[in-house]
Amino acid sequence: MLKRVTLSAIAALGLALGLSSGAAQAAGTTGHVHDFSFSFEGPFGTYDTMQLQRGLQVYTEVCSACHGLKQVPIRTLGDPGGPSLPEDQVRAYAEFYEVWDPTLLDGEGDFRPARPTDHFPGSNLANAPDLSLMAKARAGFHGPYGTGLNQLFRGMGGAEYIASLLAGYTGEEKEEAGTILYENTAFPGGWISMAPPLWGDDVVFEDGAPTDLESIAQDVSAFLMWTAEPKMMARKQAGFTGVLMLSILAVMLYLTNKRIWAPVKRAAKGTQPAE
Ligand code: HEC
Repeated sequence: MLKRVTLSAIAALGLALGLSSGAAQAAGTTGHVHDFSFSFEGPFGTYDTMQLQRGLQVYTEVCSACHGLKQVPIRTLGDPGGPSLPEDQVRAYAEFYEVWDPTLLDGEGDFRPARPTDHFPGSNLANAPDLSLMAKARAGFHGPYGTGLNQLFRGMGGAEYIASLLAGYTGEEKEEAGTILYENTAFPGGWISMAPPLWGDDVVFEDGAPTDLESIAQDVSAFLMWTAEPKMMARKQAGFTGVLMLSILAVMLYLTNKRIWAPVKRAAKGTQPAE
């Protein structure tokens, strides 16, 4: 009886494994993601303020032509832990954008320059996705065998995915149903409809940082990680404080436990027959 149950369990397990590997294959190629090392990785990693400022510049000068960041309030550019722009620069940056204000012209609405309290505009191009949360919406690492175990060691890899995507064009193009597709080694399926946005030397940085393709791809990816998780530093700090407090609590509980039971132990020893 037991034997039959075990056998059918093994058969079911085999079937399930077979099916899931089949499904993974059906999903197509997942694309190759390079494991870039970012300053914000690991339990104590923090955002690199200068890199976030460079990433903001790349986003503004290149990506914002098509992509929006509509979930991100412009004023957060001045927050500590983020790009930390001074207040006057945040205000000047906001005026770079125009927003629709329905209260203007006696309720008819009109465009006006954005203020720090406004959000970044949405995407300009209908099929270009909003990038506010993109770094958390994509995973760079799926393996081994689609179990996602690598994410335990390398993180989710959203920023790595974006950087790999931007640097992953092979230069091949094809036309499909009137749309031009570009071959990309990081994009699942291998063909994306976004034309290569970065080529290297697309921007000039004031801090003299390198502007080769891989460097600026990483800068803008770090910036997009920040837009997706602006409070990452605070979260890590809270986690660390939590672990510290729990460790202290564990030691105190251990000592308290010893002290509470000490008289009982002593009494038990006393009643033992002498050897
Ligand atoms: C000319 C317009 C244009 C520009 C400029 C542009 N993109 Fe895109 N982007 C698109 C379009 C269109 C898509 C949708 C592609 C698709 O799904 O095939 C896209 C998709 C994406 C995606 C999502 C890929 C996915 O996994 O679905 C990311 C991330 C991205 N772009 C990042 C960027 C960054 C970063 C920049 C600036 C360096 C940028 N894009 C500049 C048009 C653009």
